[in-house]
Amino acid sequence: MIGNPVNYDKKFKDSFPIFPANFDYELKRYLNLIPGKNALDLGIGQGRNSIPLSKLGFNVTGVDYSTKCLEICKNNCDKLNLIHSDIRNFYIEKNKYDLIISRCVLHFLHKTDCYQITNNIKNNIRSNGLVYIHVFSLEDPKFIKHSTSSDFEILDNNILHNKINDTYISFFTKEEILKLFSGFKTILISEEYCLDQGGEIPHYAGIIKYIGQKI
Ligand SMILES: C[S@@+](CC[C@H](N)C(=O)[O-])C[C@H]1O[C@@H](n2cnc3c(N)ncnc32)[C@H](O)[C@@H]1O
Repeated sequence: MIGNPVNYDKKFKDSFPIFPANFDYELKRYLNLIPGKNALDLGIGQGRNSIPLSKLGFNVTGVDYSTKCLEICKNNCDKLNLIHSDIRNFYIEKNKYDLIISRCVLHFLHKTDCYQITNNIKNNIRSNGLVYIHVFSLEDPKFIKHSTSSDFEILDNNILHNKINDTYISFFTKEEILKLFSGFKTILISEEYCLDQGGEIPHYAGIIKYIGQKI
């Protein structure tokens, strides 16, 4: 494991907003392709997709390092199986999960850790299972912003190291994500540059979204 996990608990101390749980359109669109009812959410956050999944009858396991996020999830949905862990330490049981989500999480890791997690997902998700990933693209304005800040050092392969808190932030291309999930059937791959109104303050973001199916 390289560096520290990002500290979302600290964000809540700085009055981070609480979001309503709403399915992402992309996931909702392909729910019919999920072969069973066991889902894993790596970096569940406030349960944006996992709470609606649970309400649909899925058995959802959510992993997060932030105790505050887990508390919000628990208060909003008592059926979630919540685990406090760094996702880099979480063992993905083989052939258990029909859906594995990691939305807006993997870019907060050094790519070496990220690749290890995507390999674990690939190897252990059930046959026909769906993977749903969101990561920052190279077009994300944070790439330029952080690259020019003295707090960050620029590493190879579009990885930035925050020297202040020893965390990493990684930026991806569509080709890279497709390569990571080679052998999977691509259900959706998209890249967008948009005003993200779902965070602390509205900001522009470059996002790659991927849905793939193990065949
Ligand atoms: C931007 S939020 C996304 C939350 C949720 N997936 C969503 O899309 O709404 C990132 C979440 O990932 C969690 N996270 C980031 N790095 C983590 C790590 N190494 N281990 C566990 N959780 C992590 C944070 O605590 C936070 O809850």
